[in-house]
Amino acid sequence: MNLQGQTALVTGGAVRIGRAICEALAASGVNVVIHHRHSATDAETLRADMERRGVRAWTLGADLSSEATCEALVQRAVATASQLDILINNAAVFHKDTLRATTEEKLLTGFWPNLFAPLLLIRAFARHSQGGKIVNLLDRRIAGHDTDCVPYLLTKKALAELTQLAALELAPRFTVNGVAPGAVLPPPGKGADYLHDQAGPVPLQRHPTPAEIAAAVLALLQNDAVTGQILFVDGGQHLL
Ligand SMILES: NC(=O)c1ccc[n+]([C@@H]2O[C@H](COP(=O)([O-])OP(=O)(O)OC[C@H]3O[C@@H](n4cnc5c(N)ncnc54)[C@H](OP(=O)(O)O)[C@@H]3O)[C@@H](O)[C@H]2O)c1
Repeated sequence: MNLQGQTALVTGGAVRIGRAICEALAASGVNVVIHHRHSATDAETLRADMERRGVRAWTLGADLSSEATCEALVQRAVATASQLDILINNAAVFHKDTLRATTEEKLLTGFWPNLFAPLLLIRAFARHSQGGKIVNLLDRRIAGHDTDCVPYLLTKKALAELTQLAALELAPRFTVNGVAPGAVLPPPGKGADYLHDQAGPVPLQRHPTPAEIAAAVLALLQNDAVTGQILFVDGGQHLL
C-alpha cells in the first residue's frame, strides 16, 4: 500500500533508531509527528529538515510514564496533525539487570515506556482513528532467555505478546506488527566496541543499521495482508 499523504506518530523519534524511522517515513511521503522526551532540540532539527524535504512534520514532548500523558499524546497528535494513520511504538529504555539486582523503581522506569505506554497508546489510537497501522519495536532477545536483563526482556516479551493480541482484537481495521532488532547501536553513553564485546555471535557477521530497521518497519506498513507478525532484523542472531 502506498503510504503517501498518511500521518504517523513515532515515539522517541528524535534520535537514533526512531530518527531513522522518521526519515524513512518522510522519504515515503508520510507526514510525521515526532514525539520526544528530553531530545527537544534534535526533534526540532529533524522537523525542520523533514519540512524542507516536502512533508509536514510536528514535534510533541511527553514523558510516557502515566496513563494521562499517553492519552494526551494521541489527542494532541490528532489535534495537531488533524489525522493519524500510523503509530510506531519506538521509545524505550534499556537496563541490564538480573532478577536479584532489580528494584521496584527500575521495574517501573522500564515497564512504563517499554510496555504500559505502547499498550495505552495503541488503545488511544484505536479510539481516535477509524483504522490504521501499528508497529512495535521489540528486541531479538525475545527469542531467548538473557538473564542479564530480566526486567527489560520481560517488557519486550510482553510487548511481543501484546502485538499479537492487539492484531486480533483490532482486526480488520488495524494491522499490528513488530520489528525485533539485533544489536544496532550501543546504549547511550557506551562506545562503539560495546556491540563487538557484548552482542555475541551473529550468523551474517554484521549488525543491522538503523536504516535497515527502518526499512523493515516500512515493509510492514506497506503490506495490508500482514498482521501479528514479528520480523527479526538481527543478522540471524535469534536463531542461535
Ligand atoms: N539500539 C539497539 O541496538 C536496539 C536493539 C534492540 C532493540 N532496540 C529497540 O529499538 C527501539 C529504538 O532503540 P534505540 O536504541 O534507538 O532507543 P533509545 O535511544 O534507547 O530510546 C529511544 C527514545 O525513547 C525515549 N524515551 C525513553 N524513556 C521515555 C519515557 N519515559 N517517556 C518518553 N520517551 C522516552 C527517549 O526520548 P528522548 O531522547 O527524547 O528523551 C529515547 O531517545 C527501542 O524500542 C529499543 O528497545 C534497540
